[in-house]
Amino acid sequence: MTEIAIYGAGGFGREVNLIVQQLIKKGFPYHFLGFFDDEDKSSELGKLYLGNTETLNNWNSSISIALAIGDGKIRKKVIERITNPRVEFSKVVSPHAIFNDIISIGTGSIICAGANLTTNIQVGEFVVINLNATVGHDCKLDNFSSIMPGANLAGEVNLKECAFVGSGANVLNGVEIAENSVLGSGGVLTKDLESNKTAIGVPAKIIEK
Ligand SMILES: CC(C)(COP(=O)(O)OP(=O)(O)OC[C@H]1O[C@@H](n2cnc3c(N)ncnc32)[C@H](O)[C@@H]1OP(=O)(O)O)[C@@H](O)C(=O)NCCC(=O)NCCS
Repeated sequence: MTEIAIYGAGGFGREVNLIVQQLIKKGFPYHFLGFFDDEDKSSELGKLYLGNTETLNNWNSSISIALAIGDGKIRKKVIERITNPRVEFSKVVSPHAIFNDIISIGTGSIICAGANLTTNIQVGEFVVINLNATVGHDCKLDNFSSIMPGANLAGEVNLKECAFVGSGANVLNGVEIAENSVLGSGGVLTKDLESNKTAIGVPAKIIEK
């Protein structure tokens, strides 16, 4: 039996908990402990609030963590702060996600209900593919990249580390989003986006921030 907890007790954390509970109902050998969050959530969650990063770093038995944080840059920072060797990270895949082929998925990634992935796709570590997002053939999603609800990646799209595709956005065939860059909600990205930029609109254009 794996002791599992969710890091991140916000809305996404509750959504990830739904997946965990569905997996438990299906017979996955998980024992759900509760939530970690750096904000004190004890009044909201009672005993299901387990504590903050320091509590996790002092946890004295094996524990598996599902990292339920929407923004990959924050996921990366959190990972760097978790130093306890007893902590492992869970891959959490909704039973309602659609896999049309065998797809490699890295440690700590979360795939939500309705996500639909076709063929020859590489999903790195700590990637989030949110509700009803589609990922076409030959896409490569590097560590800490994120695809928000209802976004679509055509074929051969590359998301570099911490790239973020907003809800309902579309990335056209063969396009790359470089490190730490963001495609805003509803945008249509027609050409490569360089690193550390935000682009919005149809077709998406870079905005200065
Ligand atoms: C693109 C984005 C990152 C910009 O965030 P931001 O830097 O905080 O920008 P602001 O909210 O200050 O908006 C700046 C301007 O861009 C506009 N804007 C923001 N997001 C936009 C979008 N996706 N498309 C078109 N215009 C947008 C705002 O209306 C505002 O315009 P104004 O200056 O004329 O008032 C953000 O709006 C976005 O789309 N995030 C993705 C959210 C998402 O998918 N969440 C998933 C939750 S599950």
